[in-house]
Amino acid sequence: MNKTGTKRIETPRLILRPFVPEDAEAMYRNWASDPAVTEFLTWPPHGSVEATRLLLADWCPRYAGGDYFQWAIELRELGEAVGSIAAVKLNESVGAAELGYCLGRAWWGRGLMPEALGAVLDYLFDEVGLQRVAACHDARNPRSGRVMEKAGMRLEGTWRQAGRNNRGVCDEVWHAMLRADREGKERL
Ligand SMILES: CC(C)(COP(=O)(O)OP(=O)(O)OC[C@H]1O[C@@H](n2cnc3c(N)ncnc32)[C@H](O)[C@@H]1OP(=O)(O)O)[C@@H](O)C(=O)NCCC(=O)NCCS
Repeated sequence: MNKTGTKRIETPRLILRPFVPEDAEAMYRNWASDPAVTEFLTWPPHGSVEATRLLLADWCPRYAGGDYFQWAIELRELGEAVGSIAAVKLNESVGAAELGYCLGRAWWGRGLMPEALGAVLDYLFDEVGLQRVAACHDARNPRSGRVMEKAGMRLEGTWRQAGRNNRGVCDEVWHAMLRADREGKERL
């Protein structure tokens, strides 16, 4: 695994970049305070911008390590962060990561997260050199499964009652992409 960390990635509509402390207001306003965004996530909506500031104060110093992958999703047309995408778990000995993501409600349904996820998958395979990238969603949150499908991840199966989020215990539906899947795709 190459410890290249959270490098800036550009896509047609988005800039994926490390968070900075100054993102706190936009993060709080655009997604972190919204219970509709956190419905299927493991953290409660932030009650004040101070909670967002404290979180960013924890995240930002971690970028120095090179093995921390946490992108702010900045919408070019707005010039503000509207969501995040991150490796929530890394297994260096396997060369595997698990991703998590969220986007402000005002920007749902425009294909923005598939655009971000596709770019992050490219980065994790091509620059970091991972072998496997996986993600799971609550079975009651199929729109997240659509994001994974659109980015080319393959359905692996359901772990019944394996997780807990703000809706309680949940069935986790897993998708993944392997390096070998991409090599196969490129040959088609
Ligand atoms: C899941 C999420 C990332 C989708 O991102 P997105 O950029 O809106 O993704 P897309 O535009 O590709 O839409 C994906 C699916 O969501 C559904 N959808 C789109 N807009 C919607 C809306 N306004 N309300 C409800 N569902 C919607 C559609 O089924 C769509 O699939 P389709 O394109 O085949 O019709 C976003 O809704 C989100 O951040 N939700 C809250 C956090 C979350 O659930 N994160 C994932 C945890 S595993």
